[in-house]
Amino acid sequence: MKKISVIGSGYVGLVTGTCFAELGNQVACIDTNQKKIDDLNDGRVPFFEPGLEELVSRNSHAGRLHFTSDLAAGIAQAECIFIAVGTPMADNGEADLSYVRYAVRQIAEALDHDAIIVNKSTVPVETGDMVAALVVEHRRHNINVSVVSNPEFLREGSAISDFMQPDRVVLGVSNDDARKFMLDLYEPLKARIFVTDVRTAEMIKYTANAFLATKISFINEIANLCECVGANVLDVDRREMRLAIAYPPCRPRRQQGTDRARLR
Ligand SMILES: NC(=O)c1ccc[n+]([C@@H]2O[C@H](COP(=O)([O-])OP(=O)(O)OC[C@H]3O[C@@H](n4cnc5c(N)ncnc54)[C@H](O)[C@@H]3O)[C@@H](O)[C@H]2O)c1
Repeated sequence: MKKISVIGSGYVGLVTGTCFAELGNQVACIDTNQKKIDDLNDGRVPFFEPGLEELVSRNSHAGRLHFTSDLAAGIAQAECIFIAVGTPMADNGEADLSYVRYAVRQIAEALDHDAIIVNKSTVPVETGDMVAALVVEHRRHNINVSVVSNPEFLREGSAISDFMQPDRVVLGVSNDDARKFMLDLYEPLKARIFVTDVRTAEMIKYTANAFLATKISFINEIANLCECVGANVLDVDRREMRLAIAYPPCRPRRQQGTDRARLR
């Protein structure tokens, strides 16, 4: 049993925290949104995800899962602190890291013991270095923090099974203690685990998103061609492209909405 805190109780943070509690760990989920915390404490999950409400309820009642808006209290016992705050696209197209920076600053100011900070938010390469530097800049105690990158690949609608039976788990670690801790934490999943350095793990997530965007753009172009020649793109996709475009199931552009919304 490990003591874990998760900062950000949105889609990724809540699924992560709840699933780690289900695996037997002691988890505190933290959010700045007091209404969200009040709802969760009342057993209401603020969005629909199959199976999540039941898991939240079971683990809350078992005393393994707690919700708070008090970050200092939420990380007081934590061996490991996950960051799962939003990283929306800024006006210039870059990831807006202000929520990550603010969360790290809050952690550094409150933390009075050594811990591992695990970044689950989708962030550009070198964010791990930034997190480590921010901790040193803002810490108030003589603490040592290891930074880990553990990018998230879950899909909304199948988030619980994506977490519990992942295609792969990527761990970017900076030392042996963090490596051992993270491997122990994920051990119950019996998943394929790739251990890399921090920058490589960050790069893996961006590469996965870029490849997904490429696949979607490619099938959209094929759909346009199909329209021109009167071919059926669904059959083309199903018969010829299935291996290349295994995920997500591709649909032609008109049915698809904004492609960017799929890349998280
Ligand atoms: N949703 C997905 O399908 C998905 C999949 C893979 C990766 N991601 C990535 O995971 C990250 C989180 O995504 P999400 O969809 O869960 O976002 P979200 O917007 O649903 O949740 C983020 C939460 O963090 C909270 N928050 C922000 N700053 C905080 C702070 N300082 N302290 C405590 N709470 C704070 C917000 O109130 C919000 O509830 C993003 O980087 C996203 O790109 C998302």
